[in-house]
Amino acid sequence: AKGKFTYDPGFVSTASCESKITYIDGGAGILLHRGYPIEQLAENSDFLETSYLLLHGELPTQEEKDKFVNTITHHTMVHEQLAQFFKGFRRDAHPMAVMIGVVGALSAFYHDSLDINDARHREIAAHRLIAKMPTLAAMVYKYNIGQPFMYPRNDLGYSENFLHMMFNTPCEEKEVNPVLARAMDKIFLLHADHEQNASTSTVRMAGSTGANPYACIASGIAALWGPAHGGANEAVLRMLDEIGDETQIDKYLAKAKDKNDPFRLMGFGHRVYKSYDPRATVMKKTCDEVLAELGLEDDPQLKMAMKLEKIALEDEYFKSRGLYPNVDFYSGIILKAIGIPTELFTVIFATGRTPGWIAHWNEMLANDYRIARPRQLYTGYAKRDYPKK
Ligand code: SDX
Repeated sequence: AKGKFTYDPGFVSTASCESKITYIDGGAGILLHRGYPIEQLAENSDFLETSYLLLHGELPTQEEKDKFVNTITHHTMVHEQLAQFFKGFRRDAHPMAVMIGVVGALSAFYHDSLDINDARHREIAAHRLIAKMPTLAAMVYKYNIGQPFMYPRNDLGYSENFLHMMFNTPCEEKEVNPVLARAMDKIFLLHADHEQNASTSTVRMAGSTGANPYACIASGIAALWGPAHGGANEAVLRMLDEIGDETQIDKYLAKAKDKNDPFRLMGFGHRVYKSYDPRATVMKKTCDEVLAELGLEDDPQLKMAMKLEKIALEDEYFKSRGLYPNVDFYSGIILKAIGIPTELFTVIFATGRTPGWIAHWNEMLANDYRIARPRQLYTGYAKRDYPKK
């Protein structure tokens, strides 16, 4: 057990490690989706076009994009029976608990008509999931606040439709602010994929057993929930609330460095990036745009986040460990400005990450894959006999 661990592909399916979808260079802060830099996609593309790219490997022609958008739009409704599932949850249940339940429940509606070895069937499942996640996310929110569910509208764009389902009611349908719709779309885009992180690896692991894609995505949502992963965006806002004001920043930075203190600087650090997360750079720019549009440039939490970032980036402890803001550091401030409640932040992350999850699932199923079986390093007892009576 103490010897050098040798890699034995017989045990860990090589297909569950190989991928052509996303490349990250953590030292240089590079993130490419099918070769395209995230900064260029954020500037020139949109969430559905990037979803198409992740799924199919190439940017769509205008005709392919129109067809894809039309397909997604016409699959945004969920089965009426699915609405009944919500009634079993307490109204104050954490939105991620409900999301795991209702996305997993999609299996009960579609799994028997799905042959995961058929590429067309896999594409249909991908379309259904990308289309229905925002509808389910909005239903989770409406259930939580006791308002009626809003149906999706086919005359609205993907992110505009999501904000319509979130904030409109049968009594009053207001036009969605296009700046907020664009910001929402950029947040979905920036979360769309990130190589084989904890939740994506969970989806691939579940998929390698032949489980249906709806159950696999539900397993990814479960893995994403943790505060070390997708739950960090919610944790950043709670951390900023806990710090309270700028005079407390030094005290909390000291806590973050204290190994005996469980406090960590949420939204900072990364398993791969030891430089600035390129998504955080785009997210910060989007944050400035949204807050300026809403006249919230003096938002106290934004000001505190910027001060915290400035001090931390100059601090030797964080610099020496390559701890920089990650995708979650600013996303929560934008989501809060859009009007999304803190408890829903990770549901938004899951909605944005769905194309990445399902692209990885599809990529593995399309290749010669085997069930994933990670090797362990056994450090327990050697064989020993049961004591004689
Ligand atoms: C996401 O993998 C992905 O791609 C994930 C993600 C995606 O898109 O899917 O990018 C999304 O999950 C982003 C990360 C969101 N999580 C947070 O913001 C939570 C706060 N961050 C930390 O919990 C932490 O940075 C992790 C979990 C993200 C990484 O943990 P690691 O790998 O243990 O960190 P590390 O090995 O780089 O740590 C090096 C050192 C350690 O100290 P030493 O033992 O060297 O003395 O830095 C310390 C850590 O204790 N450290 C922190 C810290 N993060 C690491 N100290 C204070 N605050 C932090 N945030």
